[in-house]
Formats: sequence, C-alpha cells, structure tokens
Amino acid sequence: MAEAVLEVEALHAGYGPAKVLFGVSLSLRRGEVAALMGRNGAGKSTTLKAIMGLLPPRGGRVRFAGQDITGLPPFRIARLGLGYVPEERRIFTDLTVYENLEVGRRAPAAGRAAWTPERLFTVFPNLAEMRGRRASAMSGGEQQMLTIARTLMGNPEAVLLDEPSEGLAPVIVEQMADAVLRMKEEGIAVLLSEQNLDFAAAVADRAYVIERGEIRFQGAMAALEADEQVREAYLTV
Ligand SMILES: Nc1ncnc2c1ncn2[C@@H]1O[C@H](COP(=O)(O)OP(=O)(O)O)[C@@H](O)[C@H]1O
Ligand SMILES: [Mg+2]
Repeated sequence: MAEAVLEVEALHAGYGPAKVLFGVSLSLRRGEVAALMGRNGAGKSTTLKAIMGLLPPRGGRVRFAGQDITGLPPFRIARLGLGYVPEERRIFTDLTVYENLEVGRRAPAAGRAAWTPERLFTVFPNLAEMRGRRASAMSGGEQQMLTIARTLMGNPEAVLLDEPSEGLAPVIVEQMADAVLRMKEEGIAVLLSEQNLDFAAAVADRAYVIERGEIRFQGAMAALEADEQVREAYLTV
C-alpha cells in the first residue's frame, strides 16, 4: 500500500456559528485518485477548503507530504505542492489559453520535472487545439479544463478538485475523466469531490461518502458501486 501524501484527521470546520464538519478523517495515497462523494450540502467543498486553509480548521489535523499544514495560509500550502481547483472557474478571460497557462507557472520542487504548456497539451488535447483562443471564447467545460491545467503549471504533487464534472456536457465529462486519469499516470495524487457516481467510478480508486459533515462510508470504489444501501442512503437524490 502506498504511503499517504495527505492525511486528514478528525477535522472540524464551519462558518460563523454554523458547524459543518464533525471530525472528518480521510487520506490520499501517493499517486491515487480518491473521490469524496455526497449530496449537495453534505460538506464536500467545506472539507476541501478546510484542507487548503481557506477555512480555518476548528479542530483536527491535516498533514501533507509529511508536514503538519493545519491552519497554514492557502498560499503556503499551495507552495508545498498541494494544488486546488475550486468549483467556480478562475481563469483570466482576456488572456489566451497559452497565456493562462504561463500565468500559473511555478518552479517545481527539487528533483521534480516541470510542467510546460506543451506537456500539458498532451494531457488536455482539446486545449492544444485552442491555445491561441481567448478564454472568454471557451465553453464552461473548456474553462474548467484550463483551470485544472493552469493548476498543474504550479507542479503540485497532489491536487484537490472540487466537482470537476459538474455542469459539463457529456462529451466534455469524458475528456475530463481522461485528463484525471492522465494526471494519475503522471504520478499526481487527486482528491476530487463528486456527486456523479459514473464519473467517480471511471477515475477513482477509492471513495469516501460524506453526509452532514461526517464520513459514512470508505472503501474501494468498486465496493461503493456494489453497495446499494449506501448509495441509496447518501448518494441518490
Ligand atoms: N459560506 C458559507 N456560509 C455559511 N454556510 C455555508 C457556506 N458555504 C457552505 N455552507 C453550508 O455548509 C454546508 C456544506 O456545504 P458544502 O461544503 O458547500 O457542501 P457540498 O460541497 O457537499 O455541496 C451546507 O449546509 C451549506 O449551506
Ligand atoms: Mg460543493
């Protein structure tokens, strides 16, 4: 079993007086894809934000690449090699695809190969075809891909993806799944939040299911697919 690159232990977080996470524990092994699944409002985005330091953890621990990152500011966590792609796309609409990628460029950690736009275009072939296009002229799904590609330009060791398939046309969902699998082939660990079981099953090795801020299931993706009770209780609308 590969060692964990990210370990979340008994994480508590919330907004003002509202408590949202009640002791969430999960881990992400080097080079694997894990899915954090659950319905709208279950606490998926809050978990990713609390890991990333965008929301101060109120209890519990987060370790990344052997370091305690609990409560560190987001930019420091990002510099340690943890990438984060929020639900809302963050691209520069006045810049081209290529320019957006250049904006994301950061030096890699010692000993790691650096991503270049050309290398990224092999992972995101659809972006290669529109490298000179302004981002404002791209579809929402293409912008989502560009956001992920730009995050990879920071040479992360692991990436948090918040609902990467949400709102995408079916053909783009397939391209997104291919891109996640290519990231895994490149040795990047991915923790993604998802409501779409088909998408998660296509890309993830393991799954966690969260409801009301608590993990209700953890196991192999195949075990979740086979567990009708868990799926009906926590996943179907
Ligand atoms: N900025 C916020 N302020 C207050 N409550 C929030 C905020 N963001 C999310 N919540 C609440 O936290 C809970 C979990 O939300 P979220 O983590 O976004 O769920 P998910 O990503 O699984 O859909 C929900 O009850 C939601 O209403
Ligand atoms: Mg969310």
